[in-house]
Amino acid sequence: MKKTDVIIIGSGIAALQLATQLRSDLNVIIFTKSSFTDSNSYKAQGGIACALGKTDNVEKHFTDTLEAGRYLQDQEAVRILTKEAPNMLQTFIQNQCPFDKDREGNLLLGKEGAHSENRIIHGGGDQTGRVVTDFLKDQLGQNITVIEHFLVYQLLIDKTTNTCFGLKGKNADNAVESYYAEHVVLAAGGAGQVYACTSNAKIATGDGIALAYQVGAELVDMEFVQFHPTLLYVCGEGKGLISEAVRGEGAVLSLEEGTRIMDGVHPMGDLAPRHVVSQTIYRYITNGQPVYLDISMIKNFEAKFPSITKLCHQHQAPIKDGKIPVAPGSHFLMGGVKVNLHGQTNINRLYAIGEVAASGVHGANRLASNSLLEGLVFGNKLATFLNGDDSKALHFREKPNVSRLHSAQSPMLPDRREIQESMMELTGIVRSKEMLEKQLAWLESFQIESLLSFDLSSLTKDTITTIFMLTTAKLITASALIRKESRGAHFRTDYPIEIESWKNRRIVQRRKAKAR
Ligand code: SIN
Repeated sequence: MKKTDVIIIGSGIAALQLATQLRSDLNVIIFTKSSFTDSNSYKAQGGIACALGKTDNVEKHFTDTLEAGRYLQDQEAVRILTKEAPNMLQTFIQNQCPFDKDREGNLLLGKEGAHSENRIIHGGGDQTGRVVTDFLKDQLGQNITVIEHFLVYQLLIDKTTNTCFGLKGKNADNAVESYYAEHVVLAAGGAGQVYACTSNAKIATGDGIALAYQVGAELVDMEFVQFHPTLLYVCGEGKGLISEAVRGEGAVLSLEEGTRIMDGVHPMGDLAPRHVVSQTIYRYITNGQPVYLDISMIKNFEAKFPSITKLCHQHQAPIKDGKIPVAPGSHFLMGGVKVNLHGQTNINRLYAIGEVAASGVHGANRLASNSLLEGLVFGNKLATFLNGDDSKALHFREKPNVSRLHSAQSPMLPDRREIQESMMELTGIVRSKEMLEKQLAWLESFQIESLLSFDLSSLTKDTITTIFMLTTAKLITASALIRKESRGAHFRTDYPIEIESWKNRRIVQRRKAKAR
């Protein structure tokens, strides 16, 4: 029996922050299904939102976050996020995290969509994720073991006590292994790969969501998928993110002949909240009018945005002409595993942090650069909670009551591309009852509920991943069908406006959807 104190599933910023903040006498194993730095956190461009500017304050950051999220948030969670940010980031700065500074050594604060102030701390120009991940990685202590290329396919739950006590997964050689722990933390990131056009890393297939759902954890806000307005768009495909920081430096969205598309759409123009910009670009593109990001006014573009420059060169998008072809793509899942302010789920000793979690900070649409911040703040909060928990779980003394599962036979599943394209078309930026019902019926035809009741160990990692994608796609679609209004990232043509009575309703799913 392989036993440890804390298991962390995922290796992004929330996972690393937790691991570095846990007591050094706690043994920790980080499982990652790919290589250690293959995460959305590592790819993050923009930065970390934090009220450190001279004219800024926590209250403004709080208000901007609520406004972008269309007031669906848990305000206490937003309060914690925005209030803890300045001290947290000051500590990083004191510890020499190499954020970008001007010649005088002052922190450079960028601007992004829906922020009323310049408050985006960044590193390496547009490589903030890499800078912060590397910084945290260097601080991992001897008590932390990292196991790469390990796909977790099942959480172990003691049914009698509703307690998580470990996991089963397939290692780098495809052999099945079980690990037991006092505490199991989901930090498995998002699900952008459920869509055809996405900024997300290939690994972001909703595994954490599906693992939680499989064992009866509550999921909330799953209808809210953020589409980032500007992915590099070449030959009908999204090729990677063009950070909002580019618009923060003055770039504007325009049509081929130069007409600016955000004029008159929103008071914040090109830096309007992401859902507003994405929906506007989407309307033009589906009408056959390509949209461009005009960057001609940005001086030293290559130096300011080195990784975006490289991306454009890789795909023969000539930035010297000053115009980058763009389209919206799935970027961030606001919903996820329902947690309280410590990161606890409804299953004892199972926790969630980072994008896979829904602590209530993002509401209907996440404010730009609040995601790395969320990982840091809530990774830290969970560490504080676990550091103070000295109770030992009963399940190591008593034989756990675990359901015995029958082995799954190789199921007939769709190609991943089919899932991605149908989600883009029917549960994407624009939705309706007909579209969602069609998609839900198609997703349900693969008997996902029944598949999740089997022991998946005989299936390949690829097949298990497809089952996880289908599960996540189904949860998104089912929630989107229930919410009969448009709010933030969730836009329905049959209910095109926000409806006050939906403001305080969050859709919780636990193998059976219900609104409350
Ligand atoms: C960006 O750089 O535009 C993305 C940052 C974020 O998603 O917060």
